Amino acid sequence: MAEAVALDSRSLIKSVDYANHGYPHDIWTRLRREDPVSLFRQETGPDFWAITKHADIVSIGKQPETFLNGPRLVVTDNDDDMNDGVFPPTLIQLDPPKHAKYRQLVSKRFTPRYLRRMHDDIEQIGKEIVDALVTETDEGECDFVERVSAPLPIAVIAWMLGVPREDWKLLFDWTNRTIGADDPEYQVEGEDRRATAQQAMIETFQYFTQLVEEKKKNPADDLITLFAHAEVDGKPLPPMDVLAWCFIIVVAGNETTRNGTTGGMLAFIEHQHEMRRLQADPSLLAPAVEEIVRWTSPIIHFGRTATKDVMIRDKQIREGDTLALFYPSANRDEEVFEDPFTFRIDRKPNAHIGFGVGEHFCLGSHVAKLEMQVAYKHLLPRIDEIELAGPVSRLHSGLVGGVKHLPIRYKLKKD
Ligand code: HEM
Repeated sequence: MAEAVALDSRSLIKSVDYANHGYPHDIWTRLRREDPVSLFRQETGPDFWAITKHADIVSIGKQPETFLNGPRLVVTDNDDDMNDGVFPPTLIQLDPPKHAKYRQLVSKRFTPRYLRRMHDDIEQIGKEIVDALVTETDEGECDFVERVSAPLPIAVIAWMLGVPREDWKLLFDWTNRTIGADDPEYQVEGEDRRATAQQAMIETFQYFTQLVEEKKKNPADDLITLFAHAEVDGKPLPPMDVLAWCFIIVVAGNETTRNGTTGGMLAFIEHQHEMRRLQADPSLLAPAVEEIVRWTSPIIHFGRTATKDVMIRDKQIREGDTLALFYPSANRDEEVFEDPFTFRIDRKPNAHIGFGVGEHFCLGSHVAKLEMQVAYKHLLPRIDEIELAGPVSRLHSGLVGGVKHLPIRYKLKKD
């Protein structure tokens, strides 16, 4: 590998840095300007190329045979990292040609057309969650994450999968421990990150094993039934693949949407004029949610592994090299976005890649956008005043940029 760029010692993938400082936009901005394909050497983890420009991430995302997801989906600062047997391969770790065969099993269920059928149910779930908050008191304080942005995605995902309501809380706990395995708040006492994630995964798998059996006997119109009866190349899916499907839907659809919803509320608190504009003109809801995804970019990075020697800009990437695609950096790319550091709810065009690009483009993007729209649609018209009621605490993770707690103080409008 070529010479590494000398930069701030803060690594771009260290979970503790994200907990303490949030997104390193200063570093990303400098990298985009000075060294957009930049080699980072690590003492304990793998060396990796930091890819920070929008155009490069788009190009890499569209070459799934040259840049694989499977070998190293997550880049960490630890040799004993999250790619090595902690998780079974799920859709997001499959590469061509297997990936497309698996994705098309369910892709219809996630189209806007199919979702229109479920719109009323998702809206009802969101409304119930928001109503539970706003009917309690006309003014008060709460943790927005605990009350709104955490319960909403888990409820929607659990409902889509066909998990009984009384078990929704279990899913919530497992996904916290999987994605937040690095975070002291979620780590099981006396266990490290690997053991925490592994234990959560075992519990998730045991639970879904039972539920899959149940759905085989009593099929319903839900995703678990679909996975349980799915066939690839004329053969039923192996039991482990059925479980991996359940697992990826829970893990991918939960923390990301939670943090998008929370980050959006934080953006409204910090840019109150944009919140007032949306309150005055609800037709801006859809572009506002796109802007929230660009602004928050909940996925920090995903990794790729080169299958051959290839040039990116002036850099020679070698077969087997690791690349980290920094989506939040691409979403502030000055060559693509006018005033990228301005939060603008009617931004047009808005070619953000917060949901990725190409082969692995987010399967659940329409679900996530619908959930966020429902949350703000029901919440914002009720808000008279809103402000932070304490410090924001962030997740220890170099993968999902998360706000763990968003303490808010609010006053509701009188009807
Ligand atoms: C704001 C919320 C969300 C964000 C920011 C987000 C972001 C992403 C990104 C960046 C990728 C690309 C992965 C790659 O580059 O390799 C991805 C893939 C994926 N997402 Fe999401 N996601 C969100 C919500 C959801 C939801 C709600 C679901 C499920 C209901 C979901 C399921 C998936 C799956 C299954 C993949 C893998 C697709 C594949 O490999 O073909 N996501 N997501």
